[in-house]
Amino acid sequence: MNTKVVGKGLARLEGALKVTGKARYAAEFPLEKMTYAVAVGSTISSGTVRKIDLSKAIKYKGVLTILTPENCPSLNVKEGTVVSPSLILKNNVILHAGQYVVLVIAESLESATEASRLVKIEYDEKTPVLALNDQKAEKYPGKVMSGPIANRSRGDAEAALKSAAVKIDSKYTTPGHNHNPMEMHSVIASWDGDKLTVYDGNQNPAAEKNNLAKLFGIPPANVRILSKFLGGAFGGKSYVWPHISLAAVAAKQVNRPVKFVVNRKQQFANVGRRSPTQQRIAMGADRDGTLKTIIHEGSSDTAMDGEFVEQFTIATPMLYSCPSIKVAQEVVRTNKIVPTYMRAPGEATGVWALESAMDELAHELKMDPLEFRMKNYAKLDPEHNREFSSKSLDKCYALGAEKFGWDKRPKEVLKLKRNGMYVGMGMATATRGAKHFNCSVSAALQSDGKFVFKSSTIEQGAGTITVMTQIAADWLSVPLDAIDFELGDTDFPSAPVAAGSATVTTVGNGVVGAAQKLQAELAKQLSGSASSPFKGIASQDISFADGKITAASTGKSITYVEALRILNLPKLEVIHDTSFNDREIPYSMHGFGAHFAEVLVDPDLGILRVSRMVSVMTCGKVMNERTCRSQIEGGVIWGISMALHEETVLDKRHGRVMNDSFAGYHIPVNMDIPKIESYIVDEEDKHLGPLGAKGIGELGMAGVPAAIVNALFNATGKRVRDLPLTPDKIML
Ligand code: MOS
Repeated sequence: MNTKVVGKGLARLEGALKVTGKARYAAEFPLEKMTYAVAVGSTISSGTVRKIDLSKAIKYKGVLTILTPENCPSLNVKEGTVVSPSLILKNNVILHAGQYVVLVIAESLESATEASRLVKIEYDEKTPVLALNDQKAEKYPGKVMSGPIANRSRGDAEAALKSAAVKIDSKYTTPGHNHNPMEMHSVIASWDGDKLTVYDGNQNPAAEKNNLAKLFGIPPANVRILSKFLGGAFGGKSYVWPHISLAAVAAKQVNRPVKFVVNRKQQFANVGRRSPTQQRIAMGADRDGTLKTIIHEGSSDTAMDGEFVEQFTIATPMLYSCPSIKVAQEVVRTNKIVPTYMRAPGEATGVWALESAMDELAHELKMDPLEFRMKNYAKLDPEHNREFSSKSLDKCYALGAEKFGWDKRPKEVLKLKRNGMYVGMGMATATRGAKHFNCSVSAALQSDGKFVFKSSTIEQGAGTITVMTQIAADWLSVPLDAIDFELGDTDFPSAPVAAGSATVTTVGNGVVGAAQKLQAELAKQLSGSASSPFKGIASQDISFADGKITAASTGKSITYVEALRILNLPKLEVIHDTSFNDREIPYSMHGFGAHFAEVLVDPDLGILRVSRMVSVMTCGKVMNERTCRSQIEGGVIWGISMALHEETVLDKRHGRVMNDSFAGYHIPVNMDIPKIESYIVDEEDKHLGPLGAKGIGELGMAGVPAAIVNALFNATGKRVRDLPLTPDKIML
């Protein structure tokens, strides 16, 4: 494919709408007779509700109704319809702190908020299970990639560790994290008879539609989700969280639209999280640096009434050439909301530990950490013994080392100083599975010459509208402004969840297919039409280039609009369904990259500043250089945040999140973020579809915390294995 606009760093097409406030987010739709829901969350994390006193609240001005487990209509909850079935005011059992117990619906947000404060709830509290190492906790072996994880082990890793010439055996922990997108989870639900319309910012509106239909026992065609612009999501907005179903229940009760905005505090309790992890990595190598064995095991938690496994061992069997591997994960049930996808689920936590361990073993071997990685470079996927669909990690290492100046890395600790602080340099590998899912996209040629593409996918800020428009323009060979890419409405052809860094490969390949199908349909109809200049010419001899339809044999060309006129059609529309089966693709599909971090450390005060980051990523063919780099740099920023700032702290008695605000849950500000140099190594991956692209979204985050921790070790000789890097852990 000879691309003209694909690859160019176009600015986001919806940018002007966003900065002028014209792009509407879920909570901003002004519906007539709107009402407002405010929830009261449980102050305990385990036990039962003994008594709810609504006497004051119900009398408060503007209150329309108050839902409790006693009067809340029960929903048709089936497996998979909601993430935490017990959470929709079903009974008086409390499984996590913050769990909604009461929902106040009122004429205004102010009334609902004030009335919610007048609700008195009494509980019978039990001792909650909160910690991964709680002896009373129910534990079971976790699955990774929907299979038993032990199946991903190979060789005799324990024996190889015993006999290894050089080895390390370390424990790493990551704390719990909470999503904090700028746009809070918000929903408006509105009924018209038995038809439900939901304004949401959801990554998976098509599934949301089906699940809500099941919950209310109505046909899916009666549910319409409008979810166009999301102010960030990062995995956390992929499910039907309880506020969504509750808003729909409430709207039915008051027979008016209900708006439910989950406030910042409640976001720490009711819309998923990233599980904490405890990990052990033991590694052994020959004296020459040949890796012999990796053992990676540990635990993450899940909820009492739902399962999500943080797959921290996901990359370990694949990343390096190594004859024996043992991976194992245990899942611990705790009194917390169920965890969910959060940016690079699995890799963010697991690659941190693995890449820290690689640095530790390189140090024991007295080898340069980059040289050690190259020594054990996996040319073939060692887990499945097959080729990668594409892998240019070696080029990422080389380019990163050159741009960063890896050769200037201090050889001794506490030696090189700048601005009174010790300088350290570290690096780590980044990796993330490359995925694609199936989807439907429609393409229509209109009589005004516009091509309208439609898909129920969403714009969460990554640049989907822009990239899909670029792809459509190139595949139809028409200018960008001839394309309208419409999304965010479940009345459009169905797209799967916009997550897993898979939207470009998923929807992008759908756009390619729809464009090709539209052209094929035009060619077929033109060759069969009596009034067509192409009558009788085989459709494969009709070509599309430079906005024109041409028959090579006659040299005759017409425009798309002329074609419609000749065919006497007001418009021509096709729907394309992609049909991938990843299992049939005999390649391992992953994105790769390398991060290089420079830190400045004051070990007396425990201060660490990341002073420079160089990140080189590969993601197949780049669709838009600007949006691609913005994903990489966003990932690096979150990686720095994970290394230095983020940690959800629980009250050990009641299991409540103690730092449930930006005052307590730290995320970086501009001063925390250094100059980030991002580079992309050009690749073309022929196996994930005609675009040649792999996903980029989450790749940039994986490995960043390890590069920073490794740089701290290089600066001071202090090895930190528990994130985040707070001053107490940095002090010498
Ligand atoms: Mo992805 S976990 O939706 O950032």
